[in-house]
Amino acid sequence: MVGYVIYGRGSFNQLDEILAPHRKPNLPMVFLVDHFFDGKALAGRVPLRGNDKIIFADVSYEPKTTQVDQLAQQLKDEFGSVSGVIGIGGGSTMDLAKAVGLMMTNPGSSADYQGWDLVKQAGVYKAGIPTLSGTGAEVSRTTVLTGPTKKLGMNSDFTPFDQIVLDPELTADAPANQRFYTGMDCYIHCIESLTGTYLNEFSKSYGEKALQLCREVYVNKTGWDADSDDKLMMASYAGGMSIAYSQVGVAHAVSYGLSYLLGTKHGLGNCIVFDKLQDYYPEGVKEFKLMVEKNNINIPQHICAGLSDEDFDKMINVSLGMKPLWENALGKDWEKIITREKLRALYEQL
Ligand SMILES: NC(=O)c1ccc[n+]([C@@H]2O[C@H](COP(=O)([O-])OP(=O)(O)OC[C@H]3O[C@@H](n4cnc5c(N)ncnc54)[C@H](O)[C@@H]3O)[C@@H](O)[C@H]2O)c1
Ligand SMILES: [Fe+2]
Repeated sequence: MVGYVIYGRGSFNQLDEILAPHRKPNLPMVFLVDHFFDGKALAGRVPLRGNDKIIFADVSYEPKTTQVDQLAQQLKDEFGSVSGVIGIGGGSTMDLAKAVGLMMTNPGSSADYQGWDLVKQAGVYKAGIPTLSGTGAEVSRTTVLTGPTKKLGMNSDFTPFDQIVLDPELTADAPANQRFYTGMDCYIHCIESLTGTYLNEFSKSYGEKALQLCREVYVNKTGWDADSDDKLMMASYAGGMSIAYSQVGVAHAVSYGLSYLLGTKHGLGNCIVFDKLQDYYPEGVKEFKLMVEKNNINIPQHICAGLSDEDFDKMINVSLGMKPLWENALGKDWEKIITREKLRALYEQL
């Protein structure tokens, strides 16, 4: 779990104080900042000291192992080591920061660590500061990376941040569509966790709270305000905690295939898939459609039109590889329930 959590409007202003005890002589704090903030006020508020460095992370595409390796190498070449890596941004930037922090001390390529518990050494100090709410990347023990052969996280006890700073002010200017797609990642985490066969009291306690907060934001309220940002940030945290002790389900398993083949982003891909999952999550999908309509959101359709048999096979292979997700969703006999033909028919609808 994350070592230290601070929450509240304006808490970003405490960053200098928070980092001070973790500074090592002559070694910089490196701030990986989402490129959206290049030239924006937030970048000017980063508490730089000594040889600290800001690197604007290009998150046009979701993080790749090559990008992580290149960033870690750049820092090793320039500084030898660093005091810490601070990720400021959405799930992509936070994942990059976690991975680069680990690769400062672990040998080889980040691709060598895609899997479960392959990371053997603690990384440098890592802090995460979300500017979008929903992924739960701020609390999770993974960092999702696209590597040479797979899209899979570095899941390990060393992966979670040492510190997170949850300041809802930082999410205020996110565009409505992006905010919705990332927010729905959280809603879908809740539905998949709460209806899954892996469910337990730990996951249920957090999942129910996160779901309630998502509903307040997207169903009960009539517009977006500061309170919505406050609530969604805690929903993301609780939703992330919920899946930490259970698993996601069908939407994530299918969406990973889209992302692998077409590069569809995580939140958007989940929405495109969840929209068609009425057979698996009837109540959740009904409420999702209501939220889409109420919040005036556009969910792209027919993104799989014109794909070849080979393309569909690739997506089906990636998706069926996510065994724990299917088992959580459908139980031990999942392979009898979700056949390649059924999955192909589902992909054709997207
Ligand atoms: N580690 C985990 O447990 C976990 C869980 C779920 C998803 N993820 C990963 O998170 C990523 C998705 O993250 P995301 O949905 O937060 O989006 P993102 O980080 O990919 O960012 C999406 C877009 O929003 C922009 N952006 C970020 N903050 C903004 C702000 N405040 N205002 C305006 N624009 C802003 C970014 O520049 C980018 O263009 C994927 O790479 C996914 O694999 C990780
Ligand atoms: Fe997710």
